[in-house]
Amino acid sequence: MGRLITFEGIEGCGKTTQAALAGEYLQRLRIPFVLTEEPGGTPFGKRIREILLTKTLSEPAAKAELLLFAADRAQHVKEVIEPALEKGKAVLCDRFIDATVAYQGFGRGLDIGLIKTLNAFSTGSLRPDLTLLFDLPVETALMRVRARRSNKGLDAVDDRFEGEEAAFHRKVREGYLRAAAEEPHRFRIIDASREISQIQSEVEGHLAKLLAI
Ligand code: TMP
Repeated sequence: MGRLITFEGIEGCGKTTQAALAGEYLQRLRIPFVLTEEPGGTPFGKRIREILLTKTLSEPAAKAELLLFAADRAQHVKEVIEPALEKGKAVLCDRFIDATVAYQGFGRGLDIGLIKTLNAFSTGSLRPDLTLLFDLPVETALMRVRARRSNKGLDAVDDRFEGEEAAFHRKVREGYLRAAAEEPHRFRIIDASREISQIQSEVEGHLAKLLAI
């Protein structure tokens, strides 16, 4: 069986950049891997992602949002993650079960016990072997998100989660840190306020240890 490695953190924490660099690292070492993301790691999930992230006049209820993330994940595990693990590949996944605990549980205030049950249902109880939590202060992260948007020439925020207030992101960060404290053997908390290259070497160290490189 391959190993499942998840990349987690609030918006602007740099996890997507680090997941891509981790993919390049495994590629250099000729270690078979799949780089994927949630929501949207399958064609079906891409349609769900669009619904979940696009701001519209008819906003989904928090419970509807939760169930859509669960649906995306069930499809993703069956179609992408499990087959890759069965082939012995490493799976680098940009967000997974902990995002739902942090965003829908801590952020939206839905019942954490129910979310954990739903996570187990949608994944068939599959859990990551390693979770890298990219942690940094909300203010720094939101400044990065704003800079990214203006670099792309975008000013109006059309992403439902990026448009949330700082208080929401603080609750999400708190949720991630609590999850990490509950399972210290699975999580590594990475100081994401540093330079990309410093973070990259730390990530490579964790991967090397897990994959016995
Ligand atoms: P991304 O910014 O990493 O592409 O993720 C898309 C957004 O979806 C991000 O704002 C976090 C949110 N999200 C949840 O709220 N719950 C979840 O379970 C997942 C996977 C993502």
